[in-house]
Amino acid sequence: MSPAVHFTLFALFITGATAYTNYTVGGTAGWLFDQNTNKSSTDYATWAANKTFDLGDYLIFNTNTNQTVVLTYNETTFRSCSIDNSSDTDTFFYGNGNQQFGQPLTVEVPLTIVGPNYFFSDADDAVQCENGMAFEINVSHGVGLPPSLNQPPPPPYVEPPSNADGSLTPPVANLPSGAGLGSGVNVRMTPWSSFNASSGYNYAHLMQAWSNFGGNPMYRHQLS
Ligand SMILES: *[C@@H]1O[C@H](CO)[C@@H](O)[C@H](O)[C@H]1NC(C)=O
Ligand SMILES: *[C@@H]1O[C@H](CO)[C@@H](O)[C@H](O)[C@H]1NC(C)=O
Ligand SMILES: *[C@@H]1O[C@H](CO)[C@@H](O)[C@H](O)[C@H]1NC(C)=O
Ligand SMILES: *[C@@H]1O[C@H](CO)[C@@H](O)[C@H](O)[C@H]1NC(C)=O
Ligand SMILES: *[C@@H]1O[C@H](CO)[C@@H](O)[C@H](O)[C@H]1NC(C)=O
Ligand SMILES: *[C@@H]1O[C@H](CO)[C@@H](O)[C@H](O)[C@H]1NC(C)=O
Ligand SMILES: *[C@@H]1O[C@H](CO)[C@@H](O)[C@H](O)[C@H]1NC(C)=O
Ligand SMILES: *[C@@H]1O[C@H](CO)[C@@H](O)[C@H](O)[C@H]1NC(C)=O
Repeated sequence: MSPAVHFTLFALFITGATAYTNYTVGGTAGWLFDQNTNKSSTDYATWAANKTFDLGDYLIFNTNTNQTVVLTYNETTFRSCSIDNSSDTDTFFYGNGNQQFGQPLTVEVPLTIVGPNYFFSDADDAVQCENGMAFEINVSHGVGLPPSLNQPPPPPYVEPPSNADGSLTPPVANLPSGAGLGSGVNVRMTPWSSFNASSGYNYAHLMQAWSNFGGNPMYRHQLS
């Protein structure tokens, strides 16, 4: 092999290794809402403007459990700032199951479908979403999904959490009844990295859904 060929292979390897980008939503401002002023910590539409989002990129939400992270492909759901009427095939609620207020939370959302992807927080009965906690991006094909996102093993079914007294607290407070049990929004757990072992829940698992994920493998949608 000539040095030139070696160089080309090396360059291809480097290109492949950097094909995907992780974007921290809002930059250092994070994904946060101030209940005292009714303001988001930054303008997320401005943050998203002029960025290029491709399949296989991740959005990283640095937040806490006072906000939620909802991804929907349905513009009606997005405009409503609510998951009340959403379908578990087009709307995904990301969380780590922590039901206490203000607990640190990092949510990592892979971009797996080309076209408009809408994000919002449905916490505080849509007040957050109506006051800036919402943005849309347009995902392009790029080099396509990496194998890790294209063919995941089907995750096992895991019981959703419930409070002993039956009361609802965030972020679960915003789920419609039956959510995660086959109707309503599709709930996904964040990865182990953001799991809080001392909070008593042991169901967090990478991209684990509470609902009928097995019959509806989400990552096989590589639309173009
Ligand atoms: C992006 O984040 C994902 C999920 O945490 C991680 O697996 C991946 O290695 C990160 N990629 C880069 C380029 O940092
Ligand atoms: C925040 O906005 C909601 C309506 O969107 C309003 O009901 C509430 O009083 C506002 N709170 C503050 C602190 O301005
Ligand atoms: C995006 O790019 C356009 C064209 O270059 C520019 O006019 C606009 O100000 C940019 N928007 C932001 C938020 O940077
Ligand atoms: C979008 O969601 C609404 C409910 O919010 C539903 O009525 C509508 O059929 C959905 N649109 C598509 C294209 O699935
Ligand atoms: C959900 O659908 C019901 C019945 O059509 C409607 O009354 C309600 O306003 C809808 N909620 C949202 C948030 O769109
Ligand atoms: C979270 O919300 C609770 C209840 O509204 C509030 O008391 C607390 O200050 C908030 N924490 C953060 C970090 O925003
Ligand atoms: C999204 O981007 C594609 C090209 O990457 C373009 O064809 C399409 O019009 C864009 N859609 C929107 C809603 O901006
Ligand atoms: C983990 O959860 C426990 C109990 O809910 C809480 O006291 C603690 O602050 C949490 N730690 C982190 C890092 O979220």
